[in-house]
Amino acid sequence: MKHVLLMGLAALLFSCAPDRSKKNAEESPDQAQSTTKSAVEEVIANPTKGIGAVKSVTLKSPLEKERVDRGSAIYEMKCQACHKLTTERLVGPGWKDVTQRRHPEWIMNMITNVDVMLEKDNEAQKMLELCLVRMPNQNISIGDARDVLEFMRNNDGQK
Ligand code: HEC
Repeated sequence: MKHVLLMGLAALLFSCAPDRSKKNAEESPDQAQSTTKSAVEEVIANPTKGIGAVKSVTLKSPLEKERVDRGSAIYEMKCQACHKLTTERLVGPGWKDVTQRRHPEWIMNMITNVDVMLEKDNEAQKMLELCLVRMPNQNISIGDARDVLEFMRNNDGQK
């Protein structure tokens, strides 16, 4: 029973069940707002950088446009089959707001070290429980993952 409740909570926080949060947004803007807020609070309360070679990432503003373009091309070739750019889940979670839910280091470790992340990282495991599909290792280099991260920041409206 407790497990079911936890899964329900996780479904609200993680976008593998975005339909539900979208419904909330339509029915009750207040509730949707508090959902967003708790997702952000979750990140702050849980400052995980994930497991892998990426220990620290420097983010620049304004965005590095060349990275955004390269990230976009990588997305179309290797990620689009499973990830939408909205909050909607395809095979994996939609990427909208992923840069708010997750630390940049966590995102890059998830991309470059997915097998270990799915085995050992709590956050990745929670997602796997919801998505029920293992994200495949696609041998993405750290540089390519950094480009994809920039593309995600752009998708999230960062300047
Ligand atoms: C075959 C489907 C598939 C492909 C292709 C794929 N992913 Fe995933 N991805 C998933 C699934 C499923 C998850 C959720 C974790 C799990 O269940 O393994 C996920 C999770 C993620 C997450 C975490 C999202 C979040 O909300 O925290 C990131 C970041 C990510 N993928 C990036 C990528 C990138 C970058 C690519 C392309 C280079 C890619 N994925 C290609 C299926 C895929």
